[in-house]
Amino acid sequence: MTKNSVTVLGLGLMGQALAGALVRAGHATTVWNRSPAKADALVAQGATRAGSVRDAVTASPLVIVCVTGADAVREILDPVAGELGDRVLVNLSSGTSREARETAARHPGRYLDGAIMAAPPAIGTPEAAIVYSGARAAFDEHEQILRDLGTATFLGDDPALSALHETAVLGLMYGILNGFLHSAALLGAAGVPADSFLPFARAGIDTVAGWLPGYARQIDEGTYPALDATLGTHLAAIEHVVHESEDAGVDPALPALVRAAARRAVSAGHGGDSYASVIEQFRDKESA
Ligand SMILES: NC(=O)c1ccc[n+]([C@@H]2O[C@H](COP(=O)([O-])OP(=O)(O)OC[C@H]3O[C@@H](n4cnc5c(N)ncnc54)[C@H](OP(=O)(O)O)[C@@H]3O)[C@@H](O)[C@H]2O)c1
Repeated sequence: MTKNSVTVLGLGLMGQALAGALVRAGHATTVWNRSPAKADALVAQGATRAGSVRDAVTASPLVIVCVTGADAVREILDPVAGELGDRVLVNLSSGTSREARETAARHPGRYLDGAIMAAPPAIGTPEAAIVYSGARAAFDEHEQILRDLGTATFLGDDPALSALHETAVLGLMYGILNGFLHSAALLGAAGVPADSFLPFARAGIDTVAGWLPGYARQIDEGTYPALDATLGTHLAAIEHVVHESEDAGVDPALPALVRAAARRAVSAGHGGDSYASVIEQFRDKESA
């Protein structure tokens, strides 16, 4: 066991990318996977195959686990919890805040929860953003190795912060993705190919991205002055999306959901405010 040795448990698409980056960076890398054949290519590159989870865990002071989710993490690590001792456990499996807190409670003091905001090909490059939260001392101790996986950011002592940021980004991405798919369906109903919509879609996404700093400031300050368009003006535009969808025979459920939130905000007195005021509808689940 050397200072720069590291163990990777879980060699799916992401685990293989993580272990491969560590091998390339020159770390003594021990790997384990439930289906052992997935370690073959890594062993050919210089990784060491562990015959059991116990052997894998005891091989390194830093243990990284990246499997499907919290249930799999528990299944793998609960039987060897005693072997972890003061080793640092970094969990890069996706999950919720609650799962992160539960896993942290099983490994007190030496646990980092992480979230990978990148696809496997980016791992090992600065383009791979990976956030960590939990034991600050553990992050400091192994920061150099973690930086070999991508751009590492420590978010804070609460182990839930990484999962929370991951789900926040996912929520944003699915909002954009489904907005694009709905618009493509709308255009497709008129025979317009999705490909020709791309320049307009990109411009729309860029425009909204440009609004975000101002909206973020308003959200943090709790006041929503309408600097460009009022919520009332936005609501009229959303109505057009709903009606256009209905006329085209496209499911209007997605814009109707957006309209419902905007209507509630107007009813709550925000018609003359900026669109950012709709956040109060998302905060108050009782009003939905
Ligand atoms: N791929 C991405 O683009 C990406 C991006 C960001 C985050 N992530 C996260 O990274 C994690 C792994 O993703 P992936 O793409 O590597 O998934 P994957 O290719 O489907 O691999 C899943 C891994 O989990 C293991 N596993 C599942 N259940 C298990 C159990 N009960 N006991 C032991 N091992 C178990 C699998 O082992 P077997 O090989 O034996 O089945 C395999 O190693 C997920 O939480 C995912 O959300 C992935």
